[in-house]
Amino acid sequence: MSLPTLSTATIDRRDVEARSATTRSASGARVVLRAPRVGDGAHIWRIAKDSHVLDVNSSYAYVLWCRDFAGTSVVAEVGGQVVGFVIGYLRPQAPHTVFVWQVAVDQAQQGRGIGAALLEKLLDTVAEDGASVLETTIAPDNAGSIAMFTAIARRRDARITKRALFEPGVFPDSHAAEDLYRIAPTVRTTQEDRR
Ligand SMILES: CC(C)(COP(=O)(O)OP(=O)(O)OC[C@H]1O[C@@H](n2cnc3c(N)ncnc32)[C@H](O)[C@@H]1OP(=O)(O)O)[C@@H](O)C(=O)NCCC(=O)NCCS
Repeated sequence: MSLPTLSTATIDRRDVEARSATTRSASGARVVLRAPRVGDGAHIWRIAKDSHVLDVNSSYAYVLWCRDFAGTSVVAEVGGQVVGFVIGYLRPQAPHTVFVWQVAVDQAQQGRGIGAALLEKLLDTVAEDGASVLETTIAPDNAGSIAMFTAIARRRDARITKRALFEPGVFPDSHAAEDLYRIAPTVRTTQEDRR
């Protein structure tokens, strides 16, 4: 089976202003959603670091991600500044499943719908290539993240399930357990939904 591919050029043409009327930056400026470019890697790394919640990967990992997984990742921009991101990939063994590796929004911009808008944009993008399942892992104590993914499932009338994936013992350090959340089906069904 051939894997779906998305070129950055294809995604760039789909840059959109965040659709929801409730998605506004802290200053009231519009929020633009687009595929990441290599130059965004440094900003993504900084947002991950400042979150004090996410595992901070090397800056190189984020730069490489922006090159190789731009088709399954989205950044949110306000006034030309990257203020949020979601990075994901289509699972090689399950190409209809998008795995969300990390999602974060600058603290100053949280609570305004940007996190949800990033995920919505990602799901609509990968849906064009047949992906209809979202997986992610969430630490059991991350209530905000659990609330956000639950809201996404509710908005799409999808089922959200949870099971243990990685116990602390598989990690070489003091990393906490990670639960696997699965949301399906994520595809919007009506024309009205796609607006
Ligand atoms: C999780 C995070 C990305 C949410 O971004 P955000 O832009 O503030 O989220 P939104 O404003 O789009 O909210 C989306 C939904 O989640 C809910 N939500 C978000 N943060 C919440 C919190 N801390 N507590 C309760 N609910 C929360 C919102 O109420 C909303 O639900 P609704 O549609 O029912 O109203 C952001 O808090 C963040 O960057 N956290 C640090 C990094 C992190 O934990 N990432 C997730 C790792 S798996």
